[in-house]
Amino acid sequence: MTEATSTRVAIVTGAARGIGAATAVRLAQDGFAVGVLDLEESAGKETVSAIESAGGRALAVGADVSDAEQVEAAVDRVAAELGAPTVLVNNAGVTRDNMLFKMTEVDWDVVMNVHLRGAFLMTRAVQKHMIEAKWGRVVNLSSVSALGNRGQANYSTAKAGLQGFTKTLAIELGKFGVTANAIAPGFIQTEMTKATADRMGIPFEDFIKGAAAQIPVQRVGQPEDIAHLVSFLVSEGAGFVSGQVVYAAGGPRA
Ligand SMILES: NC(=O)c1ccc[n+]([C@@H]2O[C@H](COP(=O)([O-])OP(=O)(O)OC[C@H]3O[C@@H](n4cnc5c(N)ncnc54)[C@H](O)[C@@H]3O)[C@@H](O)[C@H]2O)c1
Repeated sequence: MTEATSTRVAIVTGAARGIGAATAVRLAQDGFAVGVLDLEESAGKETVSAIESAGGRALAVGADVSDAEQVEAAVDRVAAELGAPTVLVNNAGVTRDNMLFKMTEVDWDVVMNVHLRGAFLMTRAVQKHMIEAKWGRVVNLSSVSALGNRGQANYSTAKAGLQGFTKTLAIELGKFGVTANAIAPGFIQTEMTKATADRMGIPFEDFIKGAAAQIPVQRVGQPEDIAHLVSFLVSEGAGFVSGQVVYAAGGPRA
């Protein structure tokens, strides 16, 4: 076997920073070659360097997950340069928070396009490699916001939609050795939650302290907390866990 065929290949979207970057680094530690996909190829270089300096293999790829042509080209490039991808982590995400009466159609469409259309296009592009390999793992990033959250009519709808998408993937792809699961994080300390604090005019430190006080384990999550769960869900031994939504929020959620 050549190196390209003996190593399993994963694609992580939105992997330039935050949860996606930590997940890419973790999967590389687990032995995967990792396609580090983000809007700009240059943005993924830092994650790729971190992986390579630890002895792993990675490739930065630029693509907008909501654009079908760019998605197809990105998946083809990963397949050609790293090998056929059989693990996909749909992590790319954006927020455009606003109360319903102030929410614009653009706020709505951007969030739907990145989370829902993006996960659909990426999964459609990657599934052929999984089916060919008779093995695959899909992990979709949902959120506790799927249960409802003030100011996030668009985001909570998209994150709830991803849970339905995940369950249908599990049903359709199960017979090909493919599992699909969703992770629904609570508060994770990233640029995304920092942007929320900035918008609310609260210093990030105070925002974190306030959030931690409400969480049973008394701390906010770190990107590595989610990367650890992804690592489990894509592992060989997790093959009987499919169609699940795992809330990773430092305490119970419905
Ligand atoms: N941070 C949290 O508290 C939290 C909680 C629950 C769920 N999530 C979800 O986890 C995922 C990662 O969140 P994060 O906090 O690391 O966010 P982040 O904003 O730090 O990183 C998101 C990454 O996605 C990329 N991206 C955005 N739109 C893209 C597109 N169209 N195509 C390709 N890449 C795109 C960005 O460039 C960025 O690198 C998101 O789906 C988010 O909704 C985050």
